[in-house]
Amino acid sequence: MTTRVIGTGSSIPDRNVTNDELAKVMDTSDEWICSRTGIRSRNIAVEETTTSMAAKAARKAVEKSGITPEEIDLIIVGTVSSDMYYPSTACLVQAELGAVNAVAFDLAAGCSGFLFALNTAHSYLSSGMAKCALVIGAETLSKMMDWSDRSTCVLFGDGAGAAVVKADTVGIRSVVAHSDGSGGDVLTCENRVTRNLLVQREQQFSYTQMAGQEVFKFAVKMVPKCIQEVLDKGGLTVEDVDYFLLHQANKRIIESVAKRLKVSLDKFPMNIECHGNTSAASIPILLDELVEQGRFKKGDIIVMSGFGAGLTWGATLLEW
Ligand code: UT7
Repeated sequence: MTTRVIGTGSSIPDRNVTNDELAKVMDTSDEWICSRTGIRSRNIAVEETTTSMAAKAARKAVEKSGITPEEIDLIIVGTVSSDMYYPSTACLVQAELGAVNAVAFDLAAGCSGFLFALNTAHSYLSSGMAKCALVIGAETLSKMMDWSDRSTCVLFGDGAGAAVVKADTVGIRSVVAHSDGSGGDVLTCENRVTRNLLVQREQQFSYTQMAGQEVFKFAVKMVPKCIQEVLDKGGLTVEDVDYFLLHQANKRIIESVAKRLKVSLDKFPMNIECHGNTSAASIPILLDELVEQGRFKKGDIIVMSGFGAGLTWGATLLEW
């Protein structure tokens, strides 16, 4: 038995913020952001929260899959921007949906969060520990940005994407996941405060700090490698793949991966132009948009690959 995606959903905040709007409040320009990243606008949460977007995306995915919330026996939310330390976003979503039979927990793997959550759900389903899982990537990174750091804050947007997956004979063919904690200092966000009986300390770097070029170099090196690895594991080649769904961090990273793999950029759908980098939500939002556009047909071969804080990176090969 393997794991098949049977329904997808997504949710983004109402408020769209263009590059031109950012240029009114900081020293940047549409020309710089667009030429360096491919981003033209992003949506930023005002009333929305990580939980509300996760629940909305999940509800859509459940509706489209034709299952009832009671059938879900596992909920995993990939997020690094939950609204509360506890309970987890997954437990809050469980309550919203009335998925009373599910075990629910969050998983923190930076922008790889959705893929790591999907791979974990795959393990549960393959081993018979669960039969139907709800996998979500949801982030409100806008609340964790230093809005005076133009090199980082312009890149990110908020949103959530979800997929219902079920045990089936066709679906995921292979998965790979990697971490390198020794390189983690290139993308960090410290806890805000340490406060106990003995210590009262505001952290120095309580907002996202990123060495952009280091992350860029890591991504263009490791993503093609892990795509090749997941294909080797699944017994396929790059020529067999119909779509590569990559984490939407930078258009130039995606172009570089396509070039290194010697694959036409047409096979790399993108939505970074209007959403920016939504971290763990980027792959499931893209997946849902492509499903809505009717882009996939039965038998299509899809590779999803993400990378991010940790450092973490991974890939999933599946048959639609
Ligand atoms: O999900 C994973 C998370 N992150 C990523 O994937 C990020 C990966 N990295 C990147 O996407 C790119 O490294 C960035 C988009 C972050 C930066 O692009 P870059 O081509 O590496 O630019 P840079 O950092 O070398 O900066 C070039 C110049 C600098 O000015 P000087 O020193 O050459 O005068 C920056 O100060 O651009 C300046 N700059 C800006 N100018 C206008 C940096 N940010 C901005 C900005 N607007 N927003």
